Amino acid sequence: MTAITLRNVSKTYPGGVEAIKGVSLDIGDGEFLVLVGPSGCGKSTLLRMIAGLETITAGEISIGERVVNNLEPAERDIAMVFQNYALYPHMSVRQNLEYGLKNRRMARDEIARRVEKAAGILGIAELLARKPRQLSGGQRQRVAMGRAIVREPAAFLFDEPLSNLDAKLRVQMRAEIRHLQRSLGTTSVYVTHDQLEAMTLADRIVVLNGGVVEQVGTPMEVYERPASLFVASFIGSPAMNLVPLQQARERAAIAGLVNGSVPSGLSTDAVLGVRPEDMTVGENGAGADAVRFAFTVTAVEAVGAESYVHGNLQGGAGDIAVRMPGYHRLEPGTVLSAVTAPEKLHFFAGASGQRVDRAGAAQ
Ligand SMILES: Nc1ncnc2c1ncn2[C@@H]1O[C@H](COP(=O)(O)OP(=O)(O)OP(=O)(O)O)[C@@H](O)[C@H]1O
Ligand SMILES: [Mg+2]
Repeated sequence: MTAITLRNVSKTYPGGVEAIKGVSLDIGDGEFLVLVGPSGCGKSTLLRMIAGLETITAGEISIGERVVNNLEPAERDIAMVFQNYALYPHMSVRQNLEYGLKNRRMARDEIARRVEKAAGILGIAELLARKPRQLSGGQRQRVAMGRAIVREPAAFLFDEPLSNLDAKLRVQMRAEIRHLQRSLGTTSVYVTHDQLEAMTLADRIVVLNGGVVEQVGTPMEVYERPASLFVASFIGSPAMNLVPLQQARERAAIAGLVNGSVPSGLSTDAVLGVRPEDMTVGENGAGADAVRFAFTVTAVEAVGAESYVHGNLQGGAGDIAVRMPGYHRLEPGTVLSAVTAPEKLHFFAGASGQRVDRAGAAQ
């Protein structure tokens, strides 16, 4: 049983960079938690503090029952998988897998058992005699994971383990890691800057921004109810449309907004959000309460199964992108209208960027 708990954890590097500012998290036993956020937001720092590779300036980290603040990495019973694999080039795959166990003076037959088992799980049994340079990127990544698995640790920590792989292999390895974690049931913390990777891997996502937690939730919670403008713009691709509400209303770029579909007491700098995939060009399927956006096409990105229409809202009230199923060619300058249902709208206070819900909206 390995829960990981962070209480008000902070990190200030020598020189004064405040990389992590009071983060508290409860990671459940067997949970797959993904830390996501832009470059420099503190993801690796937080992970390295859990691993013991970085000291903690303030706060407390527990792994299982133990407070680990002052424990060496080797005493924490965790295994870390890095982006650059960190395999020993002069050793065979088998030796790479055995290395950490031999260091711990484990019995030979137990080492052999664990190596065979991990090699079987990862499908690398036929590669055990090779050197890392004789492997593909995906195979190296499997060996790196194998080295973590053979330790049978209480938790896995991953720091962007797939970012050196090409797009197709990344998708495949993502599925393998997810499957592996499920079958082993080992508590895992996984760092990525790729929101799609976060969405597909995580039991829960932690969105980090500037060393602070913006939101914690399941992928669907974070997608459907982003807690802030930052999360709204970070999660989802293409990004959520964010429109200054008052300006769009004044310039008649939005029609059909009634009191009930807008939270009461919004400030004049409030921002309206709507995802491109929650909008429909034309009137098809528009309900009686549909909200309409009037815009002029500036460009169309056709990606095969769907097209993204980009445009300027009427009166220059902002930019908008709308998803259309199928392949479309639209001339720039075409004037269009897109509709959405009021419950697909998001609202954020301008100054704080915090989400504002309508009264009675599902929480
Ligand atoms: N050893 C260090 N000394 C001083 N500052 C550091 C050190 N390591 C990281 N930082 C700073 O701390 C902040 C967080 O860095 P961190 O590496 O944790 O970010 P990250 O979210 O992992 O970014 P990336 O996605 O680029 O890997 C950054 O501002 C970085 O410059
Ligand atoms: Mg990093």
